[in-house]
Amino acid sequence: MPETRSNAGIGLHGLVKSYGGAPVIPGLDAELEGGEFTVILGPSGCGKSTLLNCIAGLERLTAGRITIAGREVQEEEPKNRRLAMVFQSYALYPHMTVAENIGYALKVARVPKAERMARVAAAAKLVELGDYLGRRPGQLSGGQRQRVAIARAVVREPQVLLYDEPLSNLDAKLRQDMRMELAGLHRRIGATSVFVTHDQVEAMTLADRIMVLNKGRIEQFDTPEAIYHRPASAFVAGFIGSPAMNLIDVTGDGSHLRLSDGTALARHPHRGPAILGIRPEQVQAAPGGIPAAVTWREDLGAHCVLTLRLGDGTALRLATGPGQAAGTAATLRIALPAAALHLFDISTGRALAAAAAPATMKAEHDHLPS
Ligand SMILES: Nc1ncnc2c1ncn2[C@@H]1O[C@H](COP(=O)(O)OP(=O)(O)OP(=O)(O)O)[C@@H](O)[C@H]1O
Ligand SMILES: [Mg+2]
Repeated sequence: MPETRSNAGIGLHGLVKSYGGAPVIPGLDAELEGGEFTVILGPSGCGKSTLLNCIAGLERLTAGRITIAGREVQEEEPKNRRLAMVFQSYALYPHMTVAENIGYALKVARVPKAERMARVAAAAKLVELGDYLGRRPGQLSGGQRQRVAIARAVVREPQVLLYDEPLSNLDAKLRQDMRMELAGLHRRIGATSVFVTHDQVEAMTLADRIMVLNKGRIEQFDTPEAIYHRPASAFVAGFIGSPAMNLIDVTGDGSHLRLSDGTALARHPHRGPAILGIRPEQVQAAPGGIPAAVTWREDLGAHCVLTLRLGDGTALRLATGPGQAAGTAATLRIALPAAALHLFDISTGRALAAAAAPATMKAEHDHLPS
């Protein structure tokens, strides 16, 4: 939790945004708590930036209401919403120094020079750029430029900070460093933060809660822990986790979930078609289990990922534990532990309530008769 915490919650009520009749956001409701760090996560084109721009006031709503700290803002100019935004393309003024870039909005707002300089110095210190105030953007690294852009937002002391993929121009190492810095910054200033990304690692590491968007609709809005362990839909299940969760078409006969060729994959009381989900790291090699052909091996150092082919042609991935060798065998026998299974509705993709197998069933290493 932040040391200080903004009390500016954000309410999204029946929010609709269409472009020329086509709804990008067909109707969205959510409450973001004051001081909370929300990550909006979803694939390209799902409406993340559109939603953020609606909150910022850069886009007009087609219908619905937005409240910030309980006040309706959908008709207000962006500058009156007491928020600041950090974009992917941080567009610093190249001819201005770091200090001038950070302080520009304050200058435009005619904040007296002494106060301006004090606030610029404080913002620069927050992002650890205190020694770079006299430099120009051309003399900075990508990560340092991005921090100038963040300081430029923070210096306005906003109640709400909006970020649109601010780290996606940076290399992997820098992104990791910047993630830590952003998390630290949030702890110190406690602004209500909304952070858009399509990067699940950023979402998992930064968010208090993740809003997973798919075609402008919320698939799930919950803690990273819940999103990972209790995905509400096959979409969420397949989007979070690397390698991605296996999603397999099965049919339940009331005692087993079976592949199209009749092979029993797991014990389960479900009847009818469904999507079975299991994470690659929870698929187990088990003598006497289901036969599988190894079609591909990826050695990632810390662990190995095997792509397997089951009897009916279904592909399945297995990730070995840390330091565990994958072996070289062309075939393998596997088991899907009951406790690791997720079950989703075949038509809606929503998680089925009876996804967990009853306690009377053995949770581990079921050896399945087929
Ligand atoms: N000004 C516009 N006019 C018409 N369609 C638009 C406009 N802006 C966005 N769209 C459409 O709305 C949809 C959502 O766009 P948006 O930019 O919100 O996606 P996004 O989730 O941010 O994607 P990305 O991860 O690629 O940035 C897309 O299909 C896009 O083509
Ligand atoms: Mg976008």
